[in-house]
Amino acid sequence: MIDKIKEHIAQVEKFEATSKEDLEAFRIKYLGKKGILNDFFAEFRNVPNEMKKEFGQTINALKTKAETKVADIREALENKEEDKGVYGDLTRPAEPINLGSRHPISLVKNQIIEIFANVGFNVSEGPEIEDDWHNFTALNLPEYHPARDMQDTFFIQTNPDVLLRTHTSSVQVRYMEKNQPPIRTISPGRVFRNEAISARSHCIFHQVEGLYIDKDVSFADLKQTLLYFTKEMFGKSKIRLRPSYFPFTEPSAEVDIYWGLNNEIDYRITKGTGWLEIMGCGMVDPNVLENCGIDSKEYSGFAFGMGIERIAMLLYQIGDIRMFYENDVRFLEQFKSVL
Ligand code: DAH
Repeated sequence: MIDKIKEHIAQVEKFEATSKEDLEAFRIKYLGKKGILNDFFAEFRNVPNEMKKEFGQTINALKTKAETKVADIREALENKEEDKGVYGDLTRPAEPINLGSRHPISLVKNQIIEIFANVGFNVSEGPEIEDDWHNFTALNLPEYHPARDMQDTFFIQTNPDVLLRTHTSSVQVRYMEKNQPPIRTISPGRVFRNEAISARSHCIFHQVEGLYIDKDVSFADLKQTLLYFTKEMFGKSKIRLRPSYFPFTEPSAEVDIYWGLNNEIDYRITKGTGWLEIMGCGMVDPNVLENCGIDSKEYSGFAFGMGIERIAMLLYQIGDIRMFYENDVRFLEQFKSVL
């Protein structure tokens, strides 16, 4: 009996079919209800106990061989049909197409760009690898200025004049060197700081810099622009300007918005105060204007800078900055519905 099964195995191995009908006949012969395999399975009862094991293994081998043969030939025949442009089943569900989604950093960046574009700001960009002049000196941070330590810098070792920009304020300088007022520009981009990575901070992150230069620009214009922005971005328009220090602006301020204390999360992110710091700003220091070839007696202006990650974390309630850079699809897919 076992030899008979083995003969069948050999036949199955040799079998070939060029049409679906032949294949179906083969399938019925072996795997059909009244097929050879079922006959053998029915025999199983009569097989002496000591042979049951070998018998069982051999029929199972035959069964697997026959099943794979049918599947292989069926696939080959279908492929052949598709090559000819004859599709087996036109109602077959289509292959699912995985749609991508925008990264939350891009979403927030685009939103900021749009808000400022609506009031006449254009977009400018600069290099991520900067020189000392554009990142520091022109911004009123000469060599040995203590405020250089406010930002831990990555220097390119072979040349101390070359560094990874620590802020997008460098783009202000480049823009003013090439353009005369009136200037209304925002500069989004990636910045780098030699900082320990944690849930709150990263050595690579993104900022948007804003610059507005014209005749008779005042602090009131700055405040109004910020009010407009916070209202559009967060739907909240209660802000406060806290006096601060940046070498490139005088006077300088930090902008807090009143986030509210409506739930537990509000308490946590605002440390129980309801207020949240979202950016730095100020009136461009006349020295900076002069460094960039703009007459500070004729023109004045304001500047501001904000971190994109921080805003995205607030808007989407993201608790750990590192999630932005891991590119885990389970995280990224959650932004599919956002434009
Ligand atoms: N460059 C500052 C920083 O990275 C942010 C900033 C503050 C930019 C004040 C400005 C400004 O333009 O006026 O921390």
